[in-house]
Amino acid sequence: MSHERENWGSRFGFIMAAAGSAVGLGNIWRFPYLTGTSGGGAFILVYVLFALFVGLSVMLAEFTLGRYTAKAATGAYKQVSRQWTFVGFMGVLTALFIMGFYPVVGGWATAYIFKGFTGLLQHPEAVEDVFGAFISDPVQPLIWMVIYLALNIAIVIKGISGGIEKAGKVLMPTLFLLLVIIAIRGLTLPGASAGVSFLFKPDFSKLDGSVALAALGQAFFSLSLGMGCMITYGSFLAKTEDLKGNALIVTIMDTCIALLAGLAMFPAAFAYGVDPAAGPGLIFVVMPTVFANMGGLGQVFHVLFFIAFTVAALTSSISLMEVVVDYFIEQHHKTRKQAVLYTSIIMVIMCVLASLSLGVMADFHILGVGVFDFLDILTDKVYMAIGGMLLCLCVGWSVKKEDIYNEVTNNGELKFGLFGLWYGLIRFVNPILIAIVSVSGLIANENRALMIAGLASIGVMAIFSKKMS
Ligand code: TRP
Repeated sequence: MSHERENWGSRFGFIMAAAGSAVGLGNIWRFPYLTGTSGGGAFILVYVLFALFVGLSVMLAEFTLGRYTAKAATGAYKQVSRQWTFVGFMGVLTALFIMGFYPVVGGWATAYIFKGFTGLLQHPEAVEDVFGAFISDPVQPLIWMVIYLALNIAIVIKGISGGIEKAGKVLMPTLFLLLVIIAIRGLTLPGASAGVSFLFKPDFSKLDGSVALAALGQAFFSLSLGMGCMITYGSFLAKTEDLKGNALIVTIMDTCIALLAGLAMFPAAFAYGVDPAAGPGLIFVVMPTVFANMGGLGQVFHVLFFIAFTVAALTSSISLMEVVVDYFIEQHHKTRKQAVLYTSIIMVIMCVLASLSLGVMADFHILGVGVFDFLDILTDKVYMAIGGMLLCLCVGWSVKKEDIYNEVTNNGELKFGLFGLWYGLIRFVNPILIAIVSVSGLIANENRALMIAGLASIGVMAIFSKKMS
């Protein structure tokens, strides 16, 4: 069966969509709170190193595999060899599991747009309690999660260049601008310098295997790697495009936006006495506090910020949903509408459980953690890192070097002086490094049972790889 692949409307459109996939809750919500709970500067340093060396090379490998096979993730792996099919399938599972909690946080962001109108900013001292009460409520966050999911469905149902590309083009630049303004505001507050040293003065005594794995997982999460998303995006890329240039731009944009979000968050957090280790609520506490103290303009900024934040999340979650939808379309020959329907039903069920696990279902544990944490840890600390490692092994060892060279240089038309270095990273350095970080993370982590179960599940998938569709 031959597939007619749509192509991206323009190069700018592709970069915006790929960057839109990369820049999301990972940069603006997750990166700052992990930085806060993992000790600041040392975490940032390790994170940036992982993003620039491991992340960039893996992204290029994903683009290359996608365009080489002209297939979405599962099909791409299957085309290389049936023994690799499970990695594509694992990617689909990863996307599905991430979408089991991502829309919950996306829903919080959406809700916070409207909280700008309902008195949140009049009581800066209560901002933290309002957040705690909101996310543990059995009804409110569910409604917002469903609204957020509905937005995803509306975009994904229209297909690739119709929806995703247009959304990315307008709203990414808006987000960037807002973050710059907020960072400048934060940096000019009295007491902000403590936040700057927290960010940029590394305290290496805080580094251990667990922090390293958190940084590696975060790099994969933030760059949308390790589960086939960028393979799928690459498969839509025209044969004339410069893959390495695109990978470089997306990686740099994503890393800069994460750092910018950190700069917007921590100086203000220190200035207003918010605990930097506050956890997942950090952004929902710090930002409204900043805005509440801004006077009249604060409300405008609050609403604008949470709109941009929600849209950044949207351009990411549609890319996750697209991976699952493409799987149903390509591997099970469903129509786009059917595929979207099945995907949505599974996601709603998981998201309801994940959301309730922060409130009324807090005592329900799987392998020692609640549903939200279960999905988060399993994807971020196990599936994505191992997925990235397997991708490297697949591209580095199972595809002919000549084919990879031709694909990445557009049949020799583009110069790639660092090809040898990149290929060495893919074949040797990345797999070994990921293995070391994963093992030391496993040893240092308190959620060992869950992580071992995750690894075992990958082993089972590998065994049944050839039987998978
Ligand atoms: N990168 C996105 C973020 O930072 C999340 C995301 C989108 C993602 N697509 C992905 C993560 C694919 C892993 C894999 O919010």
